[in-house]
Amino acid sequence: MTALRAVIDLDVEGPRINKHLYGHFAEHLGRCIYGGFYVGEDSDIPNEGGIRLDVVEALRALRIPNLRWPGGCFADEYHWMDGIGPKEDRPRMINTHWGDVEENNHFGTHEFMALCEMLGADPYVNGNVGSGTVKEMSDWVEYLTRDGDSPMVRLRKANGREKAWRVPFWGIGNEAWGCGGNMSAEHYAEELRRYATFCRDHGDNKLYRIAAGAADDDYRWTETLMKAISCLGCTREPRNIFQGLTFHYYTVPGPWEHKGSATEFGDDEYYTTLAKAARVEELIAGHSAVMDCYDPHKRVGLILDEWGTWYDVEPGTNPGFLYQQNTMRDALVASVHFDAFHRHADRLVMANIAQTVNVLQAMILTDPDTQELVLTPTYHVFEMNKGHQDAASLAVHLLGDDNAIEVGDRSLNRVSASASVKDSRALVSLSNLHLTEPVEITLDLRGRAVAEVSGRLLTAPEVAAHNTSGRPDAVAPAAFEVGAVTDGTLPVTLPPHSFATVELALTPEG
Ligand code: AHR
Repeated sequence: MTALRAVIDLDVEGPRINKHLYGHFAEHLGRCIYGGFYVGEDSDIPNEGGIRLDVVEALRALRIPNLRWPGGCFADEYHWMDGIGPKEDRPRMINTHWGDVEENNHFGTHEFMALCEMLGADPYVNGNVGSGTVKEMSDWVEYLTRDGDSPMVRLRKANGREKAWRVPFWGIGNEAWGCGGNMSAEHYAEELRRYATFCRDHGDNKLYRIAAGAADDDYRWTETLMKAISCLGCTREPRNIFQGLTFHYYTVPGPWEHKGSATEFGDDEYYTTLAKAARVEELIAGHSAVMDCYDPHKRVGLILDEWGTWYDVEPGTNPGFLYQQNTMRDALVASVHFDAFHRHADRLVMANIAQTVNVLQAMILTDPDTQELVLTPTYHVFEMNKGHQDAASLAVHLLGDDNAIEVGDRSLNRVSASASVKDSRALVSLSNLHLTEPVEITLDLRGRAVAEVSGRLLTAPEVAAHNTSGRPDAVAPAAFEVGAVTDGTLPVTLPPHSFATVELALTPEG
């Protein structure tokens, strides 16, 4: 059996893992909002103001830190004034990006803010640059965040909300190079500066303005936007224009026309998927390196506000709804992403999986007929990893010569790992990506004594295993027997295609 050593200095704390790396995304796309989060007040499904209570309860267990809305591509054709006031009077529109279906605007600003309050999540509102106006965006900020008396405040109050909401995160367009307006980087940089200027801080609400960034490895896009703020650097703080810059990266196993099935895949496709997922680290490092040239003090945050697997839709479902199942393979895609996020916590400050319910790499799938809810393997990784939120990162040095699996012209690490410490508890995340071979890992825990150990394991006999309403726990966390720490070492054996967390209660320092 392959044997590796994982050296962790428990007393050498690295950058804080921002809790917002565990962020989420809800777009008006397929059954994410309608049927997923929102069923309307008249539904038989238990709800508050139309919001599904079972979905809220499941997500509260993840401690989701922020929720991005209303898109995605939808954000750039969304006109927020259509989504306020009495529902029966709200104008309708066609969702041209996603399924060409009619959108009744019953889920709008007030419903989104209520959802965030129920989840205990910070709102991340994505404004419309592609088909909107500066005034429209500026009015939305005022409507949401201003107190006292003003035209937008009066409108909000007339719609039943007295107090301003707190909105920390504000996106200025989305994928401006594509569905957000097909702009050049230079053109978008100018638009960004104009829009950002009129996204005001009202009262105590300080907006963290987020620029719409690159696709994949388009470093030129990142550089153009970073230059756009550094040229003002002599007279103004770069942070005044935008504070965060995004990029998007999806894990797509095959070519775009045949991405591959979510549940039926061979060994090669499995390894290709994981190798593509692991590439996220190269991209984070690449965008960070470009940003370092213009912002060496790391004042602008890098944000990956769309990530996850993207497969062919489930047979028989609307191709525009992006509904896909979710297997143990997706769980490992998620764990590999989180390991990379933790290692780059100095620059990467937020990430949002696409998307939370019923779309792409979802946490929750709801049955359109029975309305039953199923938690996916990806959900369990978010839950098992939640202790990393706002903890100090710890470097994990994996030693041993047998940690590589060759995948085409790429090499995939057999074991992916990361660790953090908070309040005298360390959390170690370990993934064995090998399909058939177990791996023995000796945790070499230095710098602090360990008083207690516990572990959890996520795996299944088949890597394509997934949860359905008939078998909701086909992939679910179980106890992981890990023994005790002896002389600072703890041997653990990970089964094939598995994800485990080991929690260490540390003895007090000093
Ligand atoms: O998440 C689905 C879509 O992917 C988003 O709307 C868009 O931003 C991206 O291309």
